[in-house]
Amino acid sequence: MSRGVFILLEGVDRCGKTTQVGLLSESSVMAPCEKMNFPDRTTEIGKTINSYLKSSLDLSDESVHLLFSSNRWERQPHILECLQGGKNIVCDRYAYSGVAFTNSKVDGPALDWCKACDVGLPRPDAILFLDVSQSVAETRGGFGDERYENTTHQTAVRKVFETLKTEDQAMDNAPEWHMVDAGRSIEEVKKDIEEIVKGVKERKQDTPIGKLWS
Ligand code: TMP
Repeated sequence: MSRGVFILLEGVDRCGKTTQVGLLSESSVMAPCEKMNFPDRTTEIGKTINSYLKSSLDLSDESVHLLFSSNRWERQPHILECLQGGKNIVCDRYAYSGVAFTNSKVDGPALDWCKACDVGLPRPDAILFLDVSQSVAETRGGFGDERYENTTHQTAVRKVFETLKTEDQAMDNAPEWHMVDAGRSIEEVKKDIEEIVKGVKERKQDTPIGKLWS
């Protein structure tokens, strides 16, 4: 039996990720599928992260970064269980958001420090980066509701994502990166994503599960 594949959707806030994660999780291309999202606000750690994002709790940049990372590590056994059991995973944000949102802060922790906490997590097989201009993202509903949703920070986040992509592309064992133009209609983006995922499955489902950034 082939293992499940691990598909990660990343992007800046309001790029349409959550809609596309929902659609992909219901698509026959991904069946059987487990849908995940980070931060997972249902756990005790996730509840603390939620308070931080809603600005009802203040934490140092390092402290909240470690909580975001820990929130992924607490799901590691379940991720591995799914993949080993032949279940595909579609995930809304992961360690890439973790590094991008922390390292992009003014005087934020160094890139290597940010990455180190997540080294060894199950490695996604592919990252589909939903690319939308900042001006379009900001016209979408809800922008500005949470702590990081301001133009300056989001622009800096985008640059760190670019750096992470470049670093991954220089490694032998890294996820495949696919840039998806998310400024189009929901249907067009969905079709594109499904085509990419078909290829990823063919290439990856009979390879060992990897470890992130190692
Ligand atoms: P969400 O809107 O996808 O639920 O994400 C909440 C915010 O948390 C979003 O602004 C990105 C940020 N974030 C981090 O700062 N670090 C992380 O590790 C993750 C997964 C998200």
